Amino acid sequence: MNPTQGKKKKIRLLFVCLGNICRSPAAEGIMCGIIEKNGLQDLIAVDSAGTSGWHEGELPDERMRLHGEKRGYDFCSRSRKLRKDDLSAFDYILVMDENNLRTVRAMTASKEEAEKVHLITDYLMQFRKLHNHIPDPYYGEASGFELVLDLLEDACEGLLLTIKKDHLLT
Ligand code: 4NP
Repeated sequence: MNPTQGKKKKIRLLFVCLGNICRSPAAEGIMCGIIEKNGLQDLIAVDSAGTSGWHEGELPDERMRLHGEKRGYDFCSRSRKLRKDDLSAFDYILVMDENNLRTVRAMTASKEEAEKVHLITDYLMQFRKLHNHIPDPYYGEASGFELVLDLLEDACEGLLLTIKKDHLLT
């Protein structure tokens, strides 16, 4: 018997921002926590990438890590640049703002790939209608990092509800 028979392919999520050191690694860490809390780690895989390669190989920004630690997260991914083959490999590509959306859409090779790309704020629940992007905190103050975490915690819970519905998960 084929050893992969009966083994379901994981649903793959990719979070994308500009530098892959603030917003998208935070989204990756938050989503991993939610997936574990729901016992879905065998079914859903998460990664993140940047539209730029400016911080390739770096850990998330120190400020993002510290704000995350205060909420019990350990953001420890390494920055990497988004590749064209990510668009075929991942099932949901979640971007943080309109700039990311334009860049990623321009990289898509088919309607099928374009349909995988969504603004993460489309999944907001509590903050729905109040924010249409995740503001870039890089040049801002501490409150900007807290806002990023508040929005991502809300949107990632909403995203999981959509994934559960799309894939008939309980
Ligand atoms: P991110 O934030 O896109 O959320 O990772 C930024 C990180 C770095 C820069 C800009 C935004 N930068 O200009 O280097």
